[in-house]
Amino acid sequence: MDRTAAEVFQQIYQDNGWRSTESVSGWGSELQNTAQLIRELPPLLRRLGVTSLLDVPCGDFNWMRHVDLVGLDYTGADIVPGLVAANQQAWATAHRRFVHLDLLRDPLPGAELILCRDCLFHFSHADVFRALQQFARTPARYLLTTTFTYRSWPRNADIVTGQWTPINLEMPPYCLDPPRALLIEGSHETISYGTDTPPVPMHDRCLGLWDMDAVRTRLMRPFP
Ligand SMILES: C[S@@+](CC[C@H](N)C(=O)[O-])C[C@H]1O[C@@H](n2cnc3c(N)ncnc32)[C@H](O)[C@@H]1O
Repeated sequence: MDRTAAEVFQQIYQDNGWRSTESVSGWGSELQNTAQLIRELPPLLRRLGVTSLLDVPCGDFNWMRHVDLVGLDYTGADIVPGLVAANQQAWATAHRRFVHLDLLRDPLPGAELILCRDCLFHFSHADVFRALQQFARTPARYLLTTTFTYRSWPRNADIVTGQWTPINLEMPPYCLDPPRALLIEGSHETISYGTDTPPVPMHDRCLGLWDMDAVRTRLMRPFP
């Protein structure tokens, strides 16, 4: 029987399925792989004049807790209730809250910028488009989300939601415009494609910034 996305990610959380000893959100959320984001995200938000941020999914807030969020209204959201409850207990403040929701189905809280890091690459094509539609329905002005900028192969495989594949959002079937800015993550991770080939570094792991209107325009064209 097919498991729901909620069950899949709940199981990953319970089993520490991404196998990091530092973060249940996986190696990509460790501090050694997010140091550049921690440094570069606040100046980007300031340049954009953004005062509210929806971080969906927020995972365990492992690296975001080190980001300077002063002056920002922050909402973190995730599909795993235990993660949200633990974050709320440990990290909530007057301007920071954590909510439980399924970004594919539930109404999303309003914010000027939606950060969706390390999530769409766990989704099937249909769910990536479902997520983009959900984001586009909000009043957000910007989308900041994971994209692998020079990955030509393998990428954008149509996986079952819960697995992962590197995605390049400029390439089919997504075909977003080039991002208006990139935060290069400086990841130390590698990806293995089997025993025949050596592990490939993830140097091209980035957060791409899109005007939400560009996403809305893309969604007016056909998609699978
Ligand atoms: C790899 S972690 C990334 C977390 C965080 N963005 C970070 O950079 O550390 C992926 C997260 O996506 C959450 N997730 C998966 N599907 C979701 C959905 N439909 N709605 C909300 N959260 C979801 C999982 O529970 C998990 O916490």
